[in-house]
Amino acid sequence: MEPKSVFLPDILEGKVALLTGGGSGIGLCIATYFGRHGAKVVLMGRRKQVVDEAAKSLGTEGIQAIGVAGDVRKKEDCMNAVQKTVDEFGRLDILVNGAAGNFLSAAEDLSPNAFKTVMEIDALGTYTMSYAALHYLKKGGQGKQPQEGGVIINISATLHYSAQWYQLHVSAAKAAIDSMTRSLALEWGTDFGIRVNGIAPGPIKDTPGVEKLVVNMDGTVTRDIFLGDKSDIAQTALFFCSEGGKYINGATLPVDGGNWIKSTRY
Ligand code: HXC
Repeated sequence: MEPKSVFLPDILEGKVALLTGGGSGIGLCIATYFGRHGAKVVLMGRRKQVVDEAAKSLGTEGIQAIGVAGDVRKKEDCMNAVQKTVDEFGRLDILVNGAAGNFLSAAEDLSPNAFKTVMEIDALGTYTMSYAALHYLKKGGQGKQPQEGGVIINISATLHYSAQWYQLHVSAAKAAIDSMTRSLALEWGTDFGIRVNGIAPGPIKDTPGVEKLVVNMDGTVTRDIFLGDKSDIAQTALFFCSEGGKYINGATLPVDGGNWIKSTRY
């Protein structure tokens, strides 16, 4: 059974959130929690049928949601997703950059184009979406009070805190995202009242990422590891967006049960 939210039901009342990678996995779970706490949500993903069906399923819970098909590697798709959000719901308060590409590949087999593909989805996509959303996220942006700025949450990872086998490309992309989180928090926090933070999930049950992290290329399970729930990430995202998180800017929080600090006991 899904863990209950610890937050008051109306903390995102009147807010509008756009989530890339929102059609499945962690992205959809965050959207669900946002919706249950009053937000209207827009799910962006490459596959139209997936985002449309996900939005429909949220609708059955009484959450106002739409799907928008698009690829974060394309600037026009990013601009279009932001425009559709504002056309449909009148404003944009929260952007969650969750779209990510991933596969296991030994560095010697990783073609430059494979590296570029993941960099473009994860790192460039995060920047392009943020760039596209800036106008509406700014304090005093459409539908907002003069001092009311938006929130960006970048979904990162802990792979690059040390190094992870067969994840050179993803590690490089997530390191770039963490750097962007700080730079945007500094510039857009200061000038536009936008808080930019990151969440670095550990291995999360029932997601494509978990198999890549805890299963070896030969199919054996790597090691003793704590698995998290999608809702652990969703509730962290809720906290970052809430009044409780109003003093947090430029931080990337590992939400991984402490896996990233684990080492072998002698
Ligand atoms: C090696 C691969 C590969 C693989 C693709 N490529 N899959 N190389 N092993 N398994 C190479 C291709 O050969 C090609 O290079 C280049 O990458 C582009 O591949 P395309 O298939 O043309 O790209 P595209 O159709 O755009 O698809 C991109 C994709 C996508 C990244 C491969 O299919 C994808 O994202 N799939 C998985 C999505 C996913 O699991 N998301 C969850 C992320 S979880 P060449 O040189 O041949 O042209 C996450 C958490 C991280 O990120 C932390 C936990 C691990």
